[in-house]
Amino acid sequence: MVKVSTKKENVRSMFNSIAKRYDFLNHFLSMGIDRLWRKKLVKMLISRNPLTVLDVATGTADLAIEVSRQSKAAITGIDIAEEMINIGIKKIGSLKLENQIKLQVADSENIPFSDKSFDAAIVAFGVRNFETLDKGLAEMNRVLKSNGMIAVLEFSRPKHFPVRNLYMFYFRFILPSLGRLISGDKGAYTYLPDSVKQFPDGNDFLKHLTQTGFTQTTETRLSFGIATIYTGIKL
Ligand SMILES: C[S@@+](CC[C@H](N)C(=O)[O-])C[C@H]1O[C@@H](n2cnc3c(N)ncnc32)[C@H](O)[C@@H]1O
Repeated sequence: MVKVSTKKENVRSMFNSIAKRYDFLNHFLSMGIDRLWRKKLVKMLISRNPLTVLDVATGTADLAIEVSRQSKAAITGIDIAEEMINIGIKKIGSLKLENQIKLQVADSENIPFSDKSFDAAIVAFGVRNFETLDKGLAEMNRVLKSNGMIAVLEFSRPKHFPVRNLYMFYFRFILPSLGRLISGDKGAYTYLPDSVKQFPDGNDFLKHLTQTGFTQTTETRLSFGIATIYTGIKL
């Protein structure tokens, strides 16, 4: 059983409650683009040939499954929401990937693995939910081997007209209503725009990577800056 504080408990119960509809919602609300973004992250990752990969906040394991499509690495996925993990386990079973991907319930701010266990640590749309961003990033750093790579995919804010304005409109007005309608969870899709608005992106995010022990940081903006892939190497 994972020990949780209040914000963490809220995040966990929110994802537990939308778990069954999460995949559908994700692909529907992003119009399928989220799949391309995960593919891109994995492409960047496998250029370094990792043999062991930790997928933090794995949810229903889409990113972990994408790693298995592009490499033979052994993948471990962790998440605090057991309902998300349960769906992930079913998907992995139906794809017969049990030997390559293992999932378990665990907190990314207190990762239950020893120092220097993995060649790469990845996270898609997860860091925004951490209670303390730097604690999660520092934990990912700790479990990485020297020269190991971190890759983070997260929403960011487009800088320029008109994408910026369209994005704001979609996030503020369309997405919360659609999300509420489909997921039945009032909080989930108002939480999303709020948390994206407050979250560091671009250079601000890279600073967090640097201060938690990563070097050679990079930022790759996707789809006019709607999302960004950040990478870094453990010192
Ligand atoms: C938006 S989902 C992303 C899931 C998946 N990575 C993907 O790309 O679809 C965010 C996930 O982060 C998980 N999460 C939030 N805080 C966490 C924490 N402290 N430790 C582990 N998982 C966490 C949630 O339970 C949820 O499954």
